[in-house]
Amino acid sequence: MSNPTERKPHAVLIPYPAQGHINPLFGLAKLLHLRGFHITFVHTEYNYKRLLNSRGLKAFDGSQDFHFETIPDGLPLTDEADNVTQDIVSLCKTVGENFLLPFRELLARLNDSAIVGHIPPVTCLVSDCSLTFTTQAAQELALPILLFSPSSANSLLSIMHFRTLSDKGLIPLKDESYLTNGYLDTKLDWIPGLQNFRLKDMPDFIRTTDPNNFMVEYSIGMADSVLKAPAIVINTSDELESEALKALSSMLPSVYPIGPFPSFLNQSPQSHLESLGSNLWKEDTEWLEWLKSKEPNSVVYVNFGSITVMSPEKLLEFAWGLANSKRPFLWIIRPDLVFGGSVILSSEFVNEISDRGLIASWCPQEQVLNHPSIGGFLTHCGWNSTIESICAGVPMVCWPFFADQPTNCRNICNEWGIGIEIDTDVKRKEVEKHVNELMVGEKGKKMRQKVMQLKKKAKEDTRSGGLSFMNLDKVISEVLFKQN
Ligand code: UDX
Repeated sequence: MSNPTERKPHAVLIPYPAQGHINPLFGLAKLLHLRGFHITFVHTEYNYKRLLNSRGLKAFDGSQDFHFETIPDGLPLTDEADNVTQDIVSLCKTVGENFLLPFRELLARLNDSAIVGHIPPVTCLVSDCSLTFTTQAAQELALPILLFSPSSANSLLSIMHFRTLSDKGLIPLKDESYLTNGYLDTKLDWIPGLQNFRLKDMPDFIRTTDPNNFMVEYSIGMADSVLKAPAIVINTSDELESEALKALSSMLPSVYPIGPFPSFLNQSPQSHLESLGSNLWKEDTEWLEWLKSKEPNSVVYVNFGSITVMSPEKLLEFAWGLANSKRPFLWIIRPDLVFGGSVILSSEFVNEISDRGLIASWCPQEQVLNHPSIGGFLTHCGWNSTIESICAGVPMVCWPFFADQPTNCRNICNEWGIGIEIDTDVKRKEVEKHVNELMVGEKGKKMRQKVMQLKKKAKEDTRSGGLSFMNLDKVISEVLFKQN
């Protein structure tokens, strides 16, 4: 790979087209580029348009060896503004039905360009593990394929057992009362690698009474495809999830933990891709000056990621809980965070928080988390938010919303001891109490110490000679750029 006269290996990377999946795969694209790969990164047309409108791609002046391609997402065009999160079930359906054909055509187009010498021929595919069609495309072209899990090893392992849960009659739930009658406390100790797990710690798709629930079936389809794949990389580390990784390694041919990416990328050499982002929303800028005016470790950062939605009532509970805590806070309220209408906060609330609270619509989260003024994170526990917080050494208050978030919350609070959970049916008193505990309480102090240890370990793992660093080298030589 170091010989400049040799043609570069060419990796085509395709994320599941949602923010929490795009960001980490984009991080992996940058890491592979730094290791000498020619990169094609595939977006949907819808997302690419949003990226062009946001800060993300504006700073990019083009590069010979890192470029973007698009495929249509097959969803009907809407009149909605670009700032809208696409419905996840519709996205999953269209991925299965509409992505293979344009992806196949794209690969053929790339190889045609290679014939005339513009780019190197495609040598490998790297695909989000929830895109099962990519394995077929790889087989057709006899290309090596590497799957990528943007979620934790614990949640992947949980999903690998969905079929067994169903076979054992544990899911679907008999009726709605099973959501609240203690049934979700059922222990799952028989699953190796998921010690002390309960049903409620599983990705929340299982909380259904529908025997044909689409998300459960989609997840089982993903698990089947992961079982057949030659290799999978996970944005995690041995330090964070050794037991789950051990269990996965006994089920799958090759599992490579190569995270956490935020530490990995921070310690990687600078490249001309540095300023290239992947945010679908336009970032606000006010926060930086505002944070500068605050004391170190004093500000609560509040962000529920790209998909969470809540009722106006719940939003108010958070709002007043934060206001009553009397702690400074930076709250990112996405334009579509509240279902059934736009976000309305009363003038009473706005007056109450005056210069103590700043509300913005989107921000560069990693930069915010790493600002010295940030002392805690009220989060929905998306896996990216979780590891970004760990890599920044920031303890959390957790309000998991859906998918893998209950699993991540369990690890944050019970396994690593770096977070406090808020009840799903959130109340302002509880928000106030937990935020104060996080920021100035004894428990908060202990959590801060623990998360700082994890941050240190993440740095060690991802620097030259570290476990994750070596795993990336391994996956390149054993899967992506195997030389006989
Ligand atoms: C989704 C799932 O919900 C999550 O559980 C899964 O692990 C990945 O896909 P999302 O809900 O958006 O993701 O949460 P998260 O995983 O935290 O990803 C959000 C990403 O957007 C993070 O990388 C975060 O840094 C970024 N972000 C979010 C910003 O840069 N700015 C913001 O204002 C909000």
